[in-house]
Amino acid sequence: MNFEYQNPTQLLFGAGTLARLGEVAREHGAKAMIVTGGGSVRGNGTFDRAVASLTAAGVSFVECGGVEPNPRLSSVKRGGEIARREKCDVVIALGGGSVMDAAKVMAAAPFYEGDLWEMFAHGQADRRRPERALPVITVPTLAATGSEMNSGAVVTDEATAIKSFVGAPCLYPAVAVVDPELTVSVPKDQTAYGVCDLITHVTEAYFNGVDGTPVQDRFAEGVILTALEYGPKAVANGTDLEARAQVQWASVVALNGWVQAGTLSPYPVHMIEHTLSAQHDITHGAGLAVVNPAWMRFAAKSRPERFAQFAKRIFGIKNDDPMKAATEGIDHFEAFHRSIGCPTRLSEIGIDDTQLDRYADDTLLVAGNAEGQLPGRPAMTKADIVEVLRSAL
Ligand code: NZQ
Ligand code: ZN
Repeated sequence: MNFEYQNPTQLLFGAGTLARLGEVAREHGAKAMIVTGGGSVRGNGTFDRAVASLTAAGVSFVECGGVEPNPRLSSVKRGGEIARREKCDVVIALGGGSVMDAAKVMAAAPFYEGDLWEMFAHGQADRRRPERALPVITVPTLAATGSEMNSGAVVTDEATAIKSFVGAPCLYPAVAVVDPELTVSVPKDQTAYGVCDLITHVTEAYFNGVDGTPVQDRFAEGVILTALEYGPKAVANGTDLEARAQVQWASVVALNGWVQAGTLSPYPVHMIEHTLSAQHDITHGAGLAVVNPAWMRFAAKSRPERFAQFAKRIFGIKNDDPMKAATEGIDHFEAFHRSIGCPTRLSEIGIDDTQLDRYADDTLLVAGNAEGQLPGRPAMTKADIVEVLRSAL
């Protein structure tokens, strides 16, 4: 193993931490832009509590509301303009992954020359990552993406229906205020999709990372086992604060870089799913619930021992035939998705076979390597991507 690791985001975790928002925001300036989504934070009182905390600390604010799930480039540009025009010192993201991702790019906008889409990979030769951004404070209201404590953002260009990502050191939030109480109002379906998302964040590295990372394997397995235990409890009873807290901590750890350190892993399942949520505006975690098991069945053929390890350590499956053990483990995993109400077939999320080529082309446009393949273990050709999607119809 040979790697560098740094995560500069300060984390405040626990029920009631929203009350400290004003105190931490004041350390970063006197005027904030609060970024929100479609209104959930207004309906459940989170917005008012955030504002009360800011006001008590002497922080004024402007709002940029209306960020959509699967945030659109136009919304991100709109927010960037507000931050620039209003001379905001700090950007506060109050919402799910979509709001947090949008807020990060809005924070970079005042310092970015040219079209913001140029920082996202979409097949262009010259990709210019942002180098500077306003400090961002993330306040996640949904446990899923891990965006609160990482340097990534995912945005959709609605003109082309391409969804892509940007990652840059300046996009790490300054502070993540992670208060599980804010997630008790998340509906059952979004709770379950979040569980699938956080699990996929660690299965990507588990199955696509380099060999010889036993500590990372155990970290990933710990996250998965925790999600399998507490995820169903959070789905069954949204007000179970203990379950909400464990799921939320799992989602933070799953993609703040710690579990992935040293694995050098690409994210093929994510790259494929992003084309589906770009085209069909489905929730990212719902798309993953379908694509991840389908991809696992494909990848297990070339490395059954790895998948047999997953089957044994996660589901206690013992079978001397690695391929049989692998298949049994994936069956259990898929059954778990179904048990918490997630889809496991594309038809359940309104996707048929008419655009499979398009999804594969878009995936490779965003994330293909010089050989025109999608990095992963194994690397995938266009035909492989189509095959995986077809198997999930
Ligand atoms: O928009 P509002 O009204 O806030 O409603 C949202 C939205 O409809 C609602 N919601 C959020 N918190 C709630 C709530 N409803 C009730 N009570 C609450 N407390 O949930 C719906 C979905 O929200 P969204 O933010 O879209 O979901 P999620 O957190 O799953 O984020 C998904 C986005 O993040 C990207 C995805 O591609 C997708 O665009 N990702 C970002 C990553 C990153 N930055 O590291 C990694 C991920 O793999 C992912 O790709
Ligand atoms: Zn994800």
